[in-house]
Formats: sequence, structure tokens, C-alpha cells
Amino acid sequence: MNPFQYQNGELSAENLPLSALAEQFGTPCYVYSRAALEHNLLSYERAFEGIEHLTCFAVKANSNLAVLNVLARIGAGFDIVSGGELTRVLRAGGDPAKVIFSGLGKTEIEIEQALNAGILCFNVESDAELDRINAVAQRTGKRAAISLRVNPDVDAGTHPYISTGLKENKFGIDIAAAFAVYQRAATMSHIDITGIDCHIGSQLTTIAPYLDAIDKILSLIDRLAQAGINLQHLDIGGGLGVVYNQETPPEPGELIRAVKEKIQGRNLTLIMEPGRSICANAGILLTRVEFLKHTTYKHFAIIDAAMNDLLRPSLYGAWQEIVPVRQQFSASEQALRPAHTYDVVGPVCESGDFLGKERTLSIAAGDLLAVRSAGAYGFVMSSNYNTRNRAAEVMVDNDRATVVRQRETIDYQLSLEQVLAD
Ligand code: LLP
Repeated sequence: MNPFQYQNGELSAENLPLSALAEQFGTPCYVYSRAALEHNLLSYERAFEGIEHLTCFAVKANSNLAVLNVLARIGAGFDIVSGGELTRVLRAGGDPAKVIFSGLGKTEIEIEQALNAGILCFNVESDAELDRINAVAQRTGKRAAISLRVNPDVDAGTHPYISTGLKENKFGIDIAAAFAVYQRAATMSHIDITGIDCHIGSQLTTIAPYLDAIDKILSLIDRLAQAGINLQHLDIGGGLGVVYNQETPPEPGELIRAVKEKIQGRNLTLIMEPGRSICANAGILLTRVEFLKHTTYKHFAIIDAAMNDLLRPSLYGAWQEIVPVRQQFSASEQALRPAHTYDVVGPVCESGDFLGKERTLSIAAGDLLAVRSAGAYGFVMSSNYNTRNRAAEVMVDNDRATVVRQRETIDYQLSLEQVLAD
């Protein structure tokens, strides 16, 4: 489902023209579609039908309270990686009993917070972390449910920065070592072993790496069962890709059908931790062209959004589609917009500050552009670099728009800072 379609020559978010949103809320501005978020979560839910399951939205992809709340209302669980994300989930009305805690550097305070909240499970990434969780559980008089995040050493075939399931990656416990760690966990006083998980990478466009990982994990599950350690859930992580450009990622249904086949006859609850595939295409970044700059070598469109607002192009060389909000012009307006191949750049003082390179656009200064597929790893990775206020975030529900995070102000930015007394 694409909630950002042209209606009467104008790009809209559901049933609201983006130009009206820019007028009302200013730019740069993230715009999310409630219907798309719901649709994407429900496509997982539908695919899981018939088996015990839990869809845990990976909060890191978009942690806005309103986004979490929309998903919580329709039954989502959540995959968190920090105490901060746990607080967000709880404030957004998420059910702690549907929360799993991933990440490889959980602090004692975070572990205690999660035990107090009553989360479903800790995904454990090292021996040392297992000891820490047991110790905190003991000190607080609680029991901690754990799964080991195993590193199955499969190549997810994605960008090296977002590939996580190879043995040289920092994530997870080497699958060859995991049996011994489970045996040790089984002897711990305050640990309950409940499952196993893996997450092999992000923006995967084929299901083969998942199935390779699952084969390896199922044989470990069998070995563990023979040793009297019976797991109740299998969490295959997130990672399903989306269409940014010409990719052809599988739908959740296709992946889950294949996984269901693999685990048929086993009494396993299936968990997934999707982030990007739920929210990427439910959001755009709305921005305005400040200036056009034509040099002997290049045409630049200088926009009011920058790498601090959307880091993916600078950090990963990620390609995101950039489209004009207005599509239809009178002949005289069109004459002011000769097509050029532009580098679409922000005002930040870095050559790496671009949102798109070599894009053919017919635009004039003052025009609005939309950067598509910006709902995942967009706002959450934004910063105040160059003392830029972070963008506003707006959620559209049919023909209603709500500011779900105000644009920052300079006073807000400076409020934590202090000069020396003398
Ligand atoms: N579970 C774990 C343990 C993860 O580390 C991640 C993402 C997910 C689930 C969700 O993966 P997804 O379904 O969103 O692919 N900033 C990068 C992506 C980093 C992904 C980190 N881990 C980007 O903008 O492409």
C-alpha cells in the first residue's frame, strides 16, 4: 500500500495534499500515514494466522510515541534495544508482556527496568550479559526469561553496515558455541530459558538467508531438546526489505509461509522483529527547495532538509526516491522549470550532505519535494548537527493531520547547556 499518491496533480498523504501540510506545519517535516502503518503490521498478523506468534515492531526504526501507539492499539508487540525505548513503549500503551529486549550492551539499570516492567524476554548476546542478567534478577528477586541470540554465520547479502549475521559481526553468540551457553544458562538460579533468536541483517530482498539460518537453528533446537533443554519460541528477527528503488523484496506472507513449513510439527511460537517493512513506506520527508545553483560542472538543488534530518544517503549511500510534490504546471510555470540532473543537497557544511545524487527534476526555488520511504531510520537517526532544529513529525489519518512531534526550537536545543560560572 502506498499512501502517498498524486491526486489532481498534487502528492498527497492519504487524503491530504502535502502542500497544505507544508503550509500548516512548515518544512522539513516528516509525514506518516496511519493507514499504511496499520496495513503493514496487519500483513504480518495475517501471514502468521494459524500458529502461535508475536509481531514485535523494532522500535529503533521509528520510535515516535504516536507510531508506537497506533501499532500497540492493533496488538503489536515491541522489540527494544534500550531502557529509553522501553519507556517509550510503555508511554505509548504497549503491553510489556509483548516486549523483547535485544541489543548487546544492556546496562544493569536497563535490565532492572525491564524486569520491573515484566517484559517477555531478554535476547542475550554474550556469556557476560547472561551473567549480568542472572545477577540483576537475583538481586531484585525476579526471574528473567531469556533467549540466546545466535549468530548463524549466513550472508544476508545486504549492505555491510546493516549485515549482522556473519561471524565477523559483533552480534550474537556463535552458533557453534551456543549449546554450551544454553547448558550454563540452565544451571543459573534466576534464569528461565524460553527461546532462541537471530537477526541476520536488514533490507533483505530474498528469503534464502532466513531459511539457511533457520535450518542451522532447528538443528541446535533438536540438540538442546536431547539434552533436556526445551525451547518455546523461535524469533527470526526482522530485516525484510522494502522497495526504495527497483528492489523486489518478498512480502511478509511469502517469508512466513516458508518459515511455517520449516517449523511444521514443532511446538514453537514464532516471533519476528520487523522495523523497516512496517514503517519505511509509511513515511516521507517533506522539504522545500531553497535555491538552485548551476555551476559549470553540476546542478545543485539546495533544500531545507539535510543529512542531520535523514542520514541514510550520507551514511550508507542509500538511494531514496525524491519527487516533486506538484506535478502539473501551466506552460508558463513549466518554462521556469527546465529539467536538469541535480544533486539534491542540504545546507550542512559537509560534502557528504546530500539526499540524492543525479536526479532529473523539473523544479524551481520554493517548490516542495518529498523524499519517499523515509518512515524508517529517518527521524530516529536525525541529529542537531550544525545546530539545526530537528524536523516536525506529523501523522495523517485520512483527512486529519496531527503534529506528533513539534519542530524543535533553539531554546529547547540549548536548554541542557550551561556556560562556566567564571
Ligand atoms: N531486530 C534486531 C535485533 C535489529 O538489530 C534490527 C535492526 C531489527 C530487528 C529490525 O530490522 P528491520 O526489520 O528494520 O530491517 N539504520 C539502518 C538499519 C539498521 C538496522 C539495525 N537493526 C538503515 O537505515 O538502513
